[in-house]
Amino acid sequence: MIAEGALYESLGRTLERTRFEGIGELYEGKVRDNYTRGDRRVIVTTDRISAFDRILGTVPFKGQVLTSLAAWWFERTRDVAPNHLVQKVDPNALECVACTPLPVELVMRAYITGSTSTSMWTHYQRGERVFCGHALPEGLVKNQRLDAPLLTPATKAPLGQHDVSVSREQLVASGAIGEADFDRAAEIARALFAAGQAQCASRGLILVDTKYELGKTPEGEIVVIDEIHTPDSSRFWVESTYAERFDAGLDPEPLDKDFVRRYYTALGYRGDGEPPPLPPEVRVGAAQRYLEAFERITGAPLELDVSDPLPRLAKNLGVTSTSASA
Ligand SMILES: Nc1ncnc2c1ncn2[C@@H]1O[C@H](COP(=O)(O)OP(=O)(O)OP(=O)(O)O)[C@@H](O)[C@H]1O
Ligand SMILES: [Mg+2]
Repeated sequence: MIAEGALYESLGRTLERTRFEGIGELYEGKVRDNYTRGDRRVIVTTDRISAFDRILGTVPFKGQVLTSLAAWWFERTRDVAPNHLVQKVDPNALECVACTPLPVELVMRAYITGSTSTSMWTHYQRGERVFCGHALPEGLVKNQRLDAPLLTPATKAPLGQHDVSVSREQLVASGAIGEADFDRAAEIARALFAAGQAQCASRGLILVDTKYELGKTPEGEIVVIDEIHTPDSSRFWVESTYAERFDAGLDPEPLDKDFVRRYYTALGYRGDGEPPPLPPEVRVGAAQRYLEAFERITGAPLELDVSDPLPRLAKNLGVTSTSASA
């Protein structure tokens, strides 16, 4: 793995944002800069990190980890579910099929956990015993494994607002999505989660929960879009220490964004109001965890591209260099 000193040095050279012209209409999400032209969408994953539905700053090489890891999973799960990936065009960019996103996030959960105001554990701790239409038993403990994985859909909230967890019945009744589309999407989410759990288990990791986004291709097929089984969309815990830590009442060892979430939670921040800034040691610690997650999941270290990301992207995306600016 890249040395800690090199990560500190790279703090000033992260990929914060792109402004390319001539490659399609730009949609700037919290983490990705998306360029859509015709039936293609180029998704540039930047180094921005978001948590609590806010952008907190950048983490070195995070965009490369997410891009490579999503592509790795998309290749390996094509037989489980169709997805939007066409090809990787840069260490930070995937060319994808432009789809119409379904207005719902499909969250699969194998454990009850979380620390944010919208998390399942927070709801349970408040005394709620129904989550997304699922009745929950009494006596559950934080980080406990559920009897079976639960599908807990969430509506996609506008920028700056929190997603809201809902049941299948509520979603269908609201008219947001048709029953057939929902059920196909749910089938894909369940199958992918099972495949992800199996792969992670074979590598000594627990796939705790994950969020899937699905969309319709121009032909009307429902496919997986966005990213899958990355440290941003999923929680991963280290299997070997889970039981011992659980019995001792400790949180499991995370290989995901929880490292950053926990930093904020320790400061007493839970997602409401302006977040405090991300200090260098947390940015570097997060980078180490993203890189470790890649290596632990895939079994091989990520081959980092340390070249200046903006000119490299411009070249790989076929942008005239003068129209690219930071
Ligand atoms: N193949 C695709 N076709 C259309 N939209 C897609 C596709 N893949 C991903 N998306 C959308 O592109 C965006 C990816 O950018 P990013 O993840 O940074 O956004 P976000 O901040 O999570 O989402 P948003 O700001 O829309 O709530 C998401 O809105 C996602 O739904
Ligand atoms: Mg997103």
